[in-house]
Amino acid sequence: MSLAQYAAAEVSLGERGYKIFVGAGLSGRVGEVVAASKPEATGCVLVTSEPIDGLYGETVAASLRGLNPRTFVVPDGEEAKEWENAGTLLGRFLDAGLDRNGVVVALGGGAVGDLAGFAASIYMRGVAVVQVPTTLLGMVDSGIGGKTAVNHVKGKNMIGSFYQPIAVVADPLLLRSLPIREVRSGLAEVVKYGVIADEALFRYVEKNTKRLLGHDQACMSHVIGRCASIKTGYVEEDERDDRGVRAALNYGHTLGHAAEKLASLGLRHGEAVSIGMVYAADLAVGMGLMEPEESQAQRRVLEGIGLPTKLPAAIKADELIRYMRRDKKAEGGRIRMVLPMGVGSPPTLRMVEESKLVEAIGEVT
Ligand SMILES: NC(=O)c1ccc[n+]([C@@H]2O[C@H](COP(=O)([O-])OP(=O)(O)OC[C@H]3O[C@@H](n4cnc5c(N)ncnc54)[C@H](O)[C@@H]3O)[C@@H](O)[C@H]2O)c1
Ligand SMILES: [Zn+2]
Repeated sequence: MSLAQYAAAEVSLGERGYKIFVGAGLSGRVGEVVAASKPEATGCVLVTSEPIDGLYGETVAASLRGLNPRTFVVPDGEEAKEWENAGTLLGRFLDAGLDRNGVVVALGGGAVGDLAGFAASIYMRGVAVVQVPTTLLGMVDSGIGGKTAVNHVKGKNMIGSFYQPIAVVADPLLLRSLPIREVRSGLAEVVKYGVIADEALFRYVEKNTKRLLGHDQACMSHVIGRCASIKTGYVEEDERDDRGVRAALNYGHTLGHAAEKLASLGLRHGEAVSIGMVYAADLAVGMGLMEPEESQAQRRVLEGIGLPTKLPAAIKADELIRYMRRDKKAEGGRIRMVLPMGVGSPPTLRMVEESKLVEAIGEVT
């Protein structure tokens, strides 16, 4: 099949525009994607982490052989985003003689993608980057949209840039080696897209949960493609996340981030978002914004995926609220949350009374 047939979505941002290719087996065609997206490329580097290199490094490197790729292995998981690793990686780019016509290929989860994207954005004032996400979260969220970041000891994602890739390649076959908990966690973001923007996607996930968890390639590709085009729409309207449009993508994340932080390593990101969406929907029902049946349907789908829907007992309401006051959407210490207006309808950003929140935390059983 020609590459063009795999283009599931396109980010229309003029010179910074790019395509998102989705399809089984595409990790062996990254070289073709680079050639199509940047024909003048003269060299390339592959940035990945140890476990991913062992699984898929060779396939991707082989597809890039015309550009003599050098592979650089960075620490795995969140450790990749330690500030020092950006400096080390930039040094390696220099040693490899990567020039301004070079391409950085980021192969890994959101952490590797964020680090490699950040390094590419500042190396020689910016060289092209292709994102090849290997987690479901990466394919439906972090790989698309151009947010790059590393962490500072004083805060996560505090150093970064907006820097769009020249292409994104999502190969659902890579998800087969992903621990099932990570797949479930990624599906929480998929449900999020369904609730905020696409009822058909929501129903599709509801109907095909088993197939998705069983790695049915056609189902997975369909879902990734839908999410990619939904995210693309938000990115086009609000590239730098300063017009309030991208805030909708934060559905489930205000309470979710606080729970994720407080549970420390006890909750995966998507699990925390799942819990956050359940509480946000409960609040929305209480405020007359959403029908109770829709909130129940959301909960059913999340439970069907095997995601948690209730805060761990160890998390106390007052601690959680203290955290939520620090959220970027809070205003003057007052909590603002993205609340759903139904399944498939654009959500709304609302101030939420802390007393209502305490009630909701007590209510969800
Ligand atoms: N840039 C953005 O817009 C954006 C959006 C959301 C999240 N993020 C960032 O993404 C990061 C989280 O990303 P993540 O959830 O992908 O986690 P991750 O990158 O930390 O990867 C999780 C684990 O899964 C393993 N893994 C990845 N792919 C695999 C595969 N195919 N098979 C087997 N194992 C595999 C990794 O080795 C790692 O141990 C966070 O740092 C977050 O801040 C960025
Ligand atoms: Zn998220």
